Amino acid sequence: MTHIVLTGDRPTGPLHLGHYVGSLRNRLLLQAQYRQFVMIADTQALTDNMGQLARVHRSVLEVALDYLAVGLDPARSTLFIQSQVPELAELAFYLLNLVSVARLERNPTVKEEIRLRGFERDLPAGFLAYPVSQAADIAAFRATLVPVGADQQPMIEQTNELVRRFNAATGSAALVSEHGRLPGIDGSGKMSKSQGNALNLGADADEIRAAVQRMYTDPGHLRVADPGRVEGNVVFAYLDAFDPDTAAVAELKDHYRRGGLGDMVLKRRLEAILQETLAPIRARRAEHAADPAEVMRLLAAGSAQARETAAKTLDAVRGALGLRYF
Ligand code: TRP
Repeated sequence: MTHIVLTGDRPTGPLHLGHYVGSLRNRLLLQAQYRQFVMIADTQALTDNMGQLARVHRSVLEVALDYLAVGLDPARSTLFIQSQVPELAELAFYLLNLVSVARLERNPTVKEEIRLRGFERDLPAGFLAYPVSQAADIAAFRATLVPVGADQQPMIEQTNELVRRFNAATGSAALVSEHGRLPGIDGSGKMSKSQGNALNLGADADEIRAAVQRMYTDPGHLRVADPGRVEGNVVFAYLDAFDPDTAAVAELKDHYRRGGLGDMVLKRRLEAILQETLAPIRARRAEHAADPAEVMRLLAAGSAQARETAAKTLDAVRGALGLRYF
């Protein structure tokens, strides 16, 4: 089975370790095998950032730098900017007629985001409808594999519903990464820049050290000799996501549960692994950051390529809707 892969990220700031574990790592594997489109979702970012337009604009370059830094290769993956493919907005507008407001209000991820952002009566209609725009992104490229974090699963379900309704020949399968959710360093929930509990991919050595120091462990584990809890312990969640030696991690968990293993030992181990993981990413990021014009040229070329593909789908869509007149 060959796949067409599409994913994206909203440009609202630099990407962090949660993005890396949730989807960037998967994309590196996928670009070796499949046709892959990776989108900087600026149009989607507008749905809750109309008051921060400058931040969205600035973050496009930041996200592109993060992509290049982790090893997404423009020769293998088409890196593009959502707004530069206006066909995506057009398709979203058509698909909006195939979903009810009640159905939009039931999407659990959107529900949670509405709660977090404190939207009440001032909920932007575009925000409530962003899963439809996401469905349009996926459908326009006829993507069959969408490597996103677990929180995006409801978007995939809505996409499949919409595509079924549109009676198109495309279908999508979610590829949810095994470690789809990386907790924030404070242990309060998933890693998120808006919660201030993120570790950015471009973090320097001191920031990495400080983040590991701050990491939530088990507040009941007061003395080294005390038994400790592994569940909900952020350091173990990160070791699960980053430590290649799974047998050693299993042993550390046992030891921690029995007592006699201090947080500092674990944190030193994790810090070494994170420093090693992030050093080459930071170095590549700095290299590309020195030539932003070249990065924007890459995005322009990718966007033109993506637009060609989406335009073909939209031509068929307009035909199917009876919107071809001349
Ligand atoms: N909603 C995704 C996020 O916040 C970004 C996104 C937009 C996306 N369109 C997409 C992801 C299409 C996958 C497929 O990260």
